[in-house]
Amino acid sequence: MPDDLPWWASTVIYQVYPRSFADSNGDGIGDLPGIIGHLDHLVDLGVETLWVSPFFDSPQHDVGYDVRNFRDVAPEYGTLDDAQALIDEAHGKGLKVMFDLVLNHTSEDHPWFVESRSSRDNPKADWYVWADGYRGRGGQPKPPNNWRSELQLPRAWQWSEEREQWYLATFLWFQPDLNWRNPELRAEMFDMIRMWLGRGVDGFRLDIFGSIMHDEALRDNDPKPTFMNGMPRLQTPSRTVNTDENFAVAGDLRAVCDEFEGDDRVLIGEVFGPPSTLRRYIEDQSHPGLHLVFLFEFLSAPYSAKRYRTLIEGFEHEFPAPLVPTYVVENHDRARSLSRMGGDLARARVMAALLCTLRGVPTLYMGQEIGMENTYIPLADANDPIPSVVARRLPEWLNKKLPERLNRDEVRTPMQWTAEPGAGFTDPGVPPWLPIHENHRTRNVATERDDPGSLLNWYRDLLALRKATPALQVGSLDLATDVPDDAIRFERTLDGTTVAVVANLGDRSLVVPATNAVLGGRTAAALLVSDPGVTIADHLVDLPPNTAAVISIT
Ligand code: GLC
Repeated sequence: MPDDLPWWASTVIYQVYPRSFADSNGDGIGDLPGIIGHLDHLVDLGVETLWVSPFFDSPQHDVGYDVRNFRDVAPEYGTLDDAQALIDEAHGKGLKVMFDLVLNHTSEDHPWFVESRSSRDNPKADWYVWADGYRGRGGQPKPPNNWRSELQLPRAWQWSEEREQWYLATFLWFQPDLNWRNPELRAEMFDMIRMWLGRGVDGFRLDIFGSIMHDEALRDNDPKPTFMNGMPRLQTPSRTVNTDENFAVAGDLRAVCDEFEGDDRVLIGEVFGPPSTLRRYIEDQSHPGLHLVFLFEFLSAPYSAKRYRTLIEGFEHEFPAPLVPTYVVENHDRARSLSRMGGDLARARVMAALLCTLRGVPTLYMGQEIGMENTYIPLADANDPIPSVVARRLPEWLNKKLPERLNRDEVRTPMQWTAEPGAGFTDPGVPPWLPIHENHRTRNVATERDDPGSLLNWYRDLLALRKATPALQVGSLDLATDVPDDAIRFERTLDGTTVAVVANLGDRSLVVPATNAVLGGRTAAALLVSDPGVTIADHLVDLPPNTAAVISIT
């Protein structure tokens, strides 16, 4: 491995959603000791960085993305000591640890907001984004501009009777936006970040980071509808998302991280927009910005070789080395990838092969490694507030047909550890906070660990090979364009070592040469195949439908 590369350039991230990972005290809710108790699963799987979704004190209306105290732990998840133990124990096992920072907003129950809302002239009056708006006919208060929330249907402004003013809420109504133009607020947020860095955390995932700084003059967004990362938007968010000032905040945060020994903490942005825009979070400044940004296109792309090739080509173009693309195929907000792929495990194996061998940082969401699927939960039963905002009267038959899950509970159900009642997530007989998928009897960590042909073991094999093969971790990527429509082939090369990856995403067998280059005395040998039916004769790879192979070229 080149030793001038930072650890995060070759890491593999595993996202844990704490409420659903492991319940250590039998209350049906996952907790920090539960995560600590299952760190060996991460080590065994071969991931290297643990990202924990928010576990800070919160009324949990958005399952922790509505923070009431950034410096404390929600009691149902544990204590500050547990958070410290999580960092230390993970480090002891060779894992890096990333926490999740919600910088854009707080809970409406945060004492800062309670104070800010109480009058126009209290000490925290300016810590949130307040605006007068204007009075319509009949004296009705009207918001200051046309901004819509990130959920599109609701507007971004909420009326406060107490201040007779509007406050900005970019996401849900109970998540008021912090005012990052206020120097005291900024200083407090940076100090809070220092507190966690001082406790040893290796970095942060930054929640809806593209929305921190909005147009100061509150000018209207362009009303033209658009698409961003495959999702429809009712207006073009030119004044609210990815503004110039927002890129500058990335640099300020980076400076805080770089105060810490080693200069090697990592910042990963949850940011939306075209890759050419997202790249600006990393390098569009005189000083450094974020280290990585998630690339979300694979969350909504149809399973198609042609589509994937276009995406990979685009990411390679926008994030050439030393920049590092960060691939995501699942997270706690979007449909499970296996469900998106029609429940076809062969496809999931192809997806895993691509994710673990592409140039960049792969991100796995808990349960992805065992093939967890969406657990259908009707909108009326949702714990997630989104359906109550955007789909109050949507009939279930239509909801079921949507490509995305409006009720995010469906992708947040408890981790499936065992076949037992409670799935090893909680004690048998304890009602879990969300229902457990009935397929846990066969699809769970314990069962799959014993099955050499399981998806879990395929992920383990891929990640072990990746760890043992610097070319797969940090080598260059050469994507072939002269392949059949349904095929993907790329080569990863470092210091003369070449590993080829070939995949057939179609429903008919394909024969694909293992490499672009004339082999001339070199040989192609399979390192890993997703299916025993894959064969290599001479340098031709015979790929049954929905299969992949990782091949050494020597
Ligand atoms: C991000 C999180 C999501 C949360 C939202 C508001 O998109 O991933 O779960 O609801 O931000 O914080």
